[in-house]
Amino acid sequence: MRERIEKLKQEAKKFEIANKLHLEKFRLEFLSKKGKLNDLFEDFKKVGSDEKRAFGQMLNELKNELEEKFSALTEKMSSSGKTEIEQIDFTLPGEAVALGSRHPLSIVQNQIIEIFKRMGFIISEGPEIEDDWHNFSALNFGENHPARDMQDTFFVDKDFTLRTHTSSVQVRVMQNQKPPIRTISPGRVYRNETVSARANCFFHQVEGLYINQDVSFADLKLTLFQFVEEFFGKGTNVRFRPSYFPFTEPSAEMDIYLGTSSEEDIRLTKGTGWLEILGCGMVDENVLKNCGINPDEFTGYAFGMGIERITMLKYGIKDLRLFFENDKRLLEQFAGIA
Ligand code: PHE
Repeated sequence: MRERIEKLKQEAKKFEIANKLHLEKFRLEFLSKKGKLNDLFEDFKKVGSDEKRAFGQMLNELKNELEEKFSALTEKMSSSGKTEIEQIDFTLPGEAVALGSRHPLSIVQNQIIEIFKRMGFIISEGPEIEDDWHNFSALNFGENHPARDMQDTFFVDKDFTLRTHTSSVQVRVMQNQKPPIRTISPGRVYRNETVSARANCFFHQVEGLYINQDVSFADLKLTLFQFVEEFFGKGTNVRFRPSYFPFTEPSAEMDIYLGTSSEEDIRLTKGTGWLEILGCGMVDENVLKNCGINPDEFTGYAFGMGIERITMLKYGIKDLRLFFENDKRLLEQFAGIA
């Protein structure tokens, strides 16, 4: 008996109480009805009468000791008046959370979208596996147009392809909405090209479309001037060159002027100082008709640009393949850019 009393005493002494939870544990373990102290009192009943006095005294002492400890700590904790949460020191420095960064292509895509959104364009999206009609026929590609050739297009089967441009999305929009239509379609496109520093078998585009009464080439130029000024900065020089696309007439390509002051610019622009950044034009009558829009009533313009090309320009990235390698050394440089 003596040893058990002694042992419990030591145990209670060692019990550390740092918060209210510990306190409750202490109460349950030692002082409650099913606690260890009560067990001893139960056993005490069986002690012979000659020893009763001594052990009784010891037990009572122990009981007082434990109760005192309990009530002293209870008082201390409630007088400090703080809950456990309040005891946490919020001024301590937190553990750093490692944040990822957006991919440079997403960053630039968002920047492009933001600019056109401010001009009133809405975003439309469509499937990456596309039927021949939406990707080609509706867009006035003749049966034997070279772009349908295996050289450029990945065919899923004889009727379906991986879309080669997001113009296919605009066909869907024209079919389903009445003018005025003002939309941009960002997304991934696929072409069967040899992978190199300047080309990849898939890349990303943002294409734009505006259809309304009396839309003119001047509207197209104004919109693109505005875009270039916002994206590349005021005073960026641009020029339009005549070009050809089956779905626009007249068609043009737009170049921006980089100059020839660095080796890099000379290489990029092949010595001319000018670099092509997008294709554009007035939507061909046939395309409008194919999509159920009356060309006598409505006209429209369209444009399309490659996001990789523009990202390389903006951030001085020299090899397009870097975008698809997920090398953290590249990606980390874009941390913090929204
Ligand atoms: N669809 C063309 C391409 O993939 C870009 C373009 C869009 C050109 C709209 C003119 C008008 O290259």
